[in-house]
Amino acid sequence: MRVRGTNGRAKGLLAAAAAIAIIIASGAAGAQDKTVWDGVYTEEQATRGETAYEQECATCHLADLLGDGIAPALTGAAFDFRWSDLSVGDMYVAIRATMPQGAPASLSPQGYSDIVAYMLQRNDFPAGDMELPTEEEALNMITITSQAP
Ligand code: HEC
Repeated sequence: MRVRGTNGRAKGLLAAAAAIAIIIASGAAGAQDKTVWDGVYTEEQATRGETAYEQECATCHLADLLGDGIAPALTGAAFDFRWSDLSVGDMYVAIRATMPQGAPASLSPQGYSDIVAYMLQRNDFPAGDMELPTEEEALNMITITSQAP
């Protein structure tokens, strides 16, 4: 009797857990279905970003984005190591919160978005038809991965 009761409850819990797992899985798929390989910025935006980068970032990270030894490289293995499996939103927020060093959050949201677009271009991710947005929720839906699909 007691065993059967426990069993029934366990089954109920299992069913509930399975239902929750399905909800989480579908939510995650919906939220993470884009990657940096899907053409998430435009050429024009990256060109704007290049101009902003040269004014605001290149003194320390240098024009080639390889860094000056203190400021880190923003391309290649250093980029992959720092940002792989995070979202473009994570990168955007981290940059806005800390950069330019000494004057964080001093650029417009558009300025940061353009610079991030330029960084994606310099890391050989393809351009597309839509500009990278400035809204964090939208940026959070784009996963950074070095693995081409
Ligand atoms: C005055 C020098 C200086 C300027 C200007 C500057 N940076 Fe940095 N940046 C640094 C240094 C030093 C670090 C490493 C220490 C740190 O993370 O705060 C860094 C770190 C970073 C990182 C890595 C942060 C992390 O969370 O791993 C990124 C990305 C970055 N900078 C992007 C930018 C961008 C984009 C700009 C222009 C908007 C910029 N930086 C301007 C000096 C600078």
